Amino acid sequence: MASPLVAGNWKMNTAVREASELANALKDPLSSVNGLTSVVCPPFVSLAAVRNALEGSPVAVGAQNMHPEPKGAFTGEVSGTMLADLCSHVILGHSERRQLFAEDDAFINRKVLAALGLGLTPILCVGETLDEREAGDANAVVVRQLGQGLAGVGSEDIPKVVVAYEPVWAIGTGRAATPEIAQEMMAEIRRHVAELSSEDTAQQVPLLYGGSVNAGNADVLAGQPDIDGALVGGASLQVPEFVAIAQAFAKRAA
Ligand code: PGA
Repeated sequence: MASPLVAGNWKMNTAVREASELANALKDPLSSVNGLTSVVCPPFVSLAAVRNALEGSPVAVGAQNMHPEPKGAFTGEVSGTMLADLCSHVILGHSERRQLFAEDDAFINRKVLAALGLGLTPILCVGETLDEREAGDANAVVVRQLGQGLAGVGSEDIPKVVVAYEPVWAIGTGRAATPEIAQEMMAEIRRHVAELSSEDTAQQVPLLYGGSVNAGNADVLAGQPDIDGALVGGASLQVPEFVAIAQAFAKRAA
């Protein structure tokens, strides 16, 4: 079974001082949750401050995006090379990047390959829109995003990837997927990862559910066989909520 992992996606929230304060407040309670990797993903400008605040703790730091090229004339962008000094994880292909910033599977794939090459753990996000689900295309969309996102990743690198299934209709809406819907898609993702690698490898890849995860629904989500963790947006900005979510998923390791 994959080891549990809970990541907080702070999105475009928290100025530097607020980010440090939030990291400081999370440090002790998250450190005492055993058997789980916890990751916080602040905005780029706060990565250094958050890393400093969490120094000496087991809480990992991640970025929310990166550019695939190591450096160059890409005004406003941040490369994985720059991130590798500051954090261990990076969220890639989040639906907000896909929808609001027109990122496609090929571009996201370049980022995944670049991240792996730098020793950063990519958290590859996949997920269908409501229209796609209602048209019966959810599985096809997710399998396409997964296959294209992981194109060219060698089977030895597949266990270094984290996959987050985030149905777009569940993000920030307060309307989380039912545990059955989430589990069904996670099992599909696991099957597809096994096709790209092996059954054993697929069992090691942490599969996260994301979309309106909170302290109230974390236990039931964590009780599903293929949901190893969560990618948490809104609730990750609230210390008791995020810690409760981490505790819920840590029980999988027990
Ligand atoms: P949410 O966001 O938890 O606020 O729904 C999840 C995400 O976008 O990663």
